[in-house]
Amino acid sequence: MSKVLFIKNKIKEFNKQIQVSGDKSLSIRWILLASQATGKSRAYNLLMSEDVLAALDSIKKLGIKVKLHKKHCEVIGNGINGYKYKKNLTINARNSGTLGRLILGLLIKSPQVIKLIGDKSLSKRDFSRVTSPLEKFGAKFHYKIKNRLPLTIFGSQSIEGIKYLENKGSAQCKSSVMFAALNASGTTSIKAKKSRNHSELLFKYLKIPIKIKKTKKYDLIDIKQPKKIKAFNYQIPGDISSSAFFMVLTILSNNSKLLIKNVNINPSRTGVITILKKMGAKISLKNIRNYRGEKISNILIKSSQNLKAINCPQALNSSTIDEFLVIFLVAARAKGISYFKDVSELNQKESPRLNWGSKILNMMGVKTELTKDSVKIHGQPNLKITKPIIIKNYLKDHRVFMMSTIAALTCGGQWKIYDKDSINTSFPSFLKIIKTINNN
Ligand code: S3P
Repeated sequence: MSKVLFIKNKIKEFNKQIQVSGDKSLSIRWILLASQATGKSRAYNLLMSEDVLAALDSIKKLGIKVKLHKKHCEVIGNGINGYKYKKNLTINARNSGTLGRLILGLLIKSPQVIKLIGDKSLSKRDFSRVTSPLEKFGAKFHYKIKNRLPLTIFGSQSIEGIKYLENKGSAQCKSSVMFAALNASGTTSIKAKKSRNHSELLFKYLKIPIKIKKTKKYDLIDIKQPKKIKAFNYQIPGDISSSAFFMVLTILSNNSKLLIKNVNINPSRTGVITILKKMGAKISLKNIRNYRGEKISNILIKSSQNLKAINCPQALNSSTIDEFLVIFLVAARAKGISYFKDVSELNQKESPRLNWGSKILNMMGVKTELTKDSVKIHGQPNLKITKPIIIKNYLKDHRVFMMSTIAALTCGGQWKIYDKDSINTSFPSFLKIIKTINNN
């Protein structure tokens, strides 16, 4: 398979129904929690992407049985801290920050030294954001290069609950500490800036002792060590982050309509819908229902004209964190100057996404004003791309690839986009779904 995607035509008008693959955050959390449960858990619609396979491989190395069936995945847990493995174990989180950071929380009591490694992109990312709080529990971490993978974990047998202030709005940091609390005696108290709350909802569903008090900016979370986690089955809903690419594809296409079925619309993830609607996009939610604390819905999107710029409220940043790149495209086609502020966290992702997003818009002929933590985008409702565009994505960032593809299909021009296989990280069926939409 060629690793390069060439696009020279916009997508044709469409009226379709699609389903995107399972939510990545929930897939990884299910695997890790099922590995701590006692007995056989099953997941349906588990995302089969590189990040999720890396999670399955990691728990297998830790002595957990995993069986992949045609329609479901089975994990047979050995209970809390029930991992069994030999000396000198190496776990490879590959491209996944979520896996690398969350699994560390489960390893703070490990009796043997474990090495955690990742791919080139993950090895550039900051791990001290989780190892600092995890050290407070009593575990020790050793880095060769400051705060970067590979790292070595030295677990401790006496793990006590901690008090932790999570101030970045990072669900990975919050969840890593929550997972560590499963091994800690006493209470772990977390004051966390708002971020996606899948771990909290799963803890509640699993009857892990958790108390949550919500204030405007922070959630105060108290967790006590459970005696046991019961094995559990779970139907993973569609990923809103994957859906976002198709929302924007439809909004920016002519005379088109798309229904995306069974998407997780947990309010801690729906910043993208709020922002796009504020910009004038035609999006409506159909058949909203509840599943184990998560909200699921079908999403109907229609082509939208007269899009307007947005001064994006900072309060929406954490619930939009993985969708900004594709929202930047809508800003590029909206009337006026859009402003996204306090978004430096975007540069901490699989690649420096704030910088990449701005650069791609510039290649398209759209003016941006970029700072270390913000970007202003000068929208052009009648944007015409005149020069050929080549996207060489040196860190193989899946969301940069998908954003570029949507830009090419909606804004025209001649595009050569490298690193096609980066989609395997989060959304292997991305290009297949595009093909079915483009096939009238
Ligand atoms: C995730 C949290 C977010 C997000 C990532 C998945 C999670 O990262 O960008 O794709 O599943 O907890 P941060 O915690 O770094 O914001």
